[in-house]
Amino acid sequence: MKKIAKVISTPDFTKAAIRNLKSLPEYQYESVQIPEDIKNIGENKKYFIRTYGCQGNLRDSEVISGILNELKYTKTDDVNLADIIILNTCCVRENAEKKVFGEIGSLKNLKHNNPSLLIGVCGCMVQQEHIVNKILNDYQQVDIIFGTHNIHQLPLLIKEAIISNQRICNVLSNQGNIYEDLPSCRESTFKAFVNIMYGCNKFCTYCIVPYTRGQERSRKSKDILDEIKYLKENGYKEVTLLGQNVNAYGKDINDLSFAELMEQVALIGIERIRFTTSHPFDFSDELIDVIAKYPNIMKHIQLPVQSGDDKILKLMGRRYTRQQYLDLVTKIKERIPNVSLTTDIIVGFPNESLEAFENTLSLCEIVKYDSAFTFIYSPRENTPAAKMQDNVSLETKKERFNRLTSLIAKYELEKYKTYENKIVKVLVEGPSKKNEDILSGYTEDMKLVNFKGDKSSIGQIVNVKIIKAKTYTLEGEQVV
Ligand code: SAH
Ligand code: SF4
Ligand code: F3S
Repeated sequence: MKKIAKVISTPDFTKAAIRNLKSLPEYQYESVQIPEDIKNIGENKKYFIRTYGCQGNLRDSEVISGILNELKYTKTDDVNLADIIILNTCCVRENAEKKVFGEIGSLKNLKHNNPSLLIGVCGCMVQQEHIVNKILNDYQQVDIIFGTHNIHQLPLLIKEAIISNQRICNVLSNQGNIYEDLPSCRESTFKAFVNIMYGCNKFCTYCIVPYTRGQERSRKSKDILDEIKYLKENGYKEVTLLGQNVNAYGKDINDLSFAELMEQVALIGIERIRFTTSHPFDFSDELIDVIAKYPNIMKHIQLPVQSGDDKILKLMGRRYTRQQYLDLVTKIKERIPNVSLTTDIIVGFPNESLEAFENTLSLCEIVKYDSAFTFIYSPRENTPAAKMQDNVSLETKKERFNRLTSLIAKYELEKYKTYENKIVKVLVEGPSKKNEDILSGYTEDMKLVNFKGDKSSIGQIVNVKIIKAKTYTLEGEQVV
C-alpha cells in the first residue's frame, strides 16, 4: 500500500541562488529539540549511515550520528541490521547521483521485508527540486527527505514519520542559520574535521554547491577556537578546517580573517593543522606567511585550478587567469619551501578546444603537482554551464582525461621517489585497507604511507623510513 507523503517544504532553485549579503548569519545555540515522547525511540534499535561526497558531508554525518545517539539508537555497519538508514548524498557530478539512486533502489527489498524500517535521504542531492520530486514519485521506500539546512530537525521528522505513518519531506532552500549546539559523534578519536564556514558565494558556472549549501556564512572565531581547544584537550592530534572556500572566512561577519584565524589555531598547539579548500582568487600574502611561520600548520595546499586556459577559466567564472594562478604558485613555493601542492582539474568543459586542453597540460608541467583530482565535466541541472552546449564528445573527454591523469601520475611518482630512504612523520590511522598486518597513515604533506609497524601506535605520530615509492603511496618501516 502506498503511504501518503506529507510535503512540508521543497527546495526552490531561484531562492537557493539568492545572496542577502547585508544580513549576518543567525547563530543558534539551542536548536535540537528532542520531543519527550521519542526520547527513547531508538532503544534496542540500530542506525546505518552511508555518506557520499566531500568532508563537509562527512562532518554532517557525524552530526546525524550524534542526533541518533541522543535518541538512543546505536550504530551498525551492516545495513541489513538497521532500523533506520540514512543516505547522506552528493550531487557534484552525475556519477555521484547515479550511485545514490542505485542504492535507494537496492533498499527496496529490505523495506519490503521490514515495513517498519525507516529510510531517510538527505544531503546535497535533495536540495534539488527535480530530485525530490523523483524520489517522492518513484521511490516509495524513502520515508524521510531532509536537506543540508535542517539537519537539526531530524528528531521531529523521525517522530512525524513514525507517529503519522506518512512519508515526510522538508527541505529548505537557503536558510543561512548556524547551529552551534548540535551533538556529534566523530568518526576518529585523533583527527577531526572542524567547519569554519558553510556555503559558497563563488558560483563557478559548472558547480551546484552554492545552490545546495546556501549563502557563505562564517562561524564565530571564538566558537571555532573553543572547539579546537576541546579537541586538543581530548587527545586529538589533527584538525582539518573545512569550508568550500576557506579564504573567504570572516568576510561576512566582523571577525578574524582566515590568516588570523589560522594563527590563533596554530597557537592552541594542536599538532597538525590542515585546511580545505582554498580558492586561488583570494589567497592572501598573510595566509602564506602564517603557513610558513608555524610548524604545526601542514605544508600542504589544495589549490584547485580547474583549467590552465584563460578562455575556459573565464567561462567557468573562476576569477583568475592562468598567469595569476602561476604567479600565486611561484609566490607560495618561494615562501614555503617543500610545500606540497595538489589540485582539482575538470576536462571537457564546454568549448574546451584541443589547444585549451593542452594549456591545462602545460600548466601541470610547470606546477608539477604532488597529486591531483581529475574529473570529466558533468553538466549540473540549472547551473549556468548547463545552458552552454556540452560540445566535447565523450570519447574526446575520456582521451583527454587519460592524457591528463598519466601526466599527473608521472610527476607524482617523481615527487614520491624523492622520499625514498628518508624518514617522515606519519599519523597512524590503522591497518591498511588491503593488508591487516600493515599500518597506514598520512605524512605531514598528505602522502599515504603503508608501513610495517607497531599496532599500539594507532592514533600516534611516528617516524617511518620510506623504502619504496609507488605512484599513489609510499611504503616503509616504522623506526624509533
Ligand atoms: N569548493 C571546492 C570544490 C568543491 S567541488 C573548490 O572550489 O575547490 C570539488 C571539485 O569537483 C571541484 O573542484 C571541481 O573540480 C569538481 N566539480 C565541481 N562541479 C563539477 C562538474 N559539474 N563537473 C565535473 N567536476 C566538477
Ligand atoms: Fe563550487 Fe566554485 Fe564554490 Fe568551489 S568555489 S564550491 S567550485 S562554486
Ligand atoms: Fe557533494 Fe555537496 Fe560536498 S554536492 S561535494 S556533498 S558540498
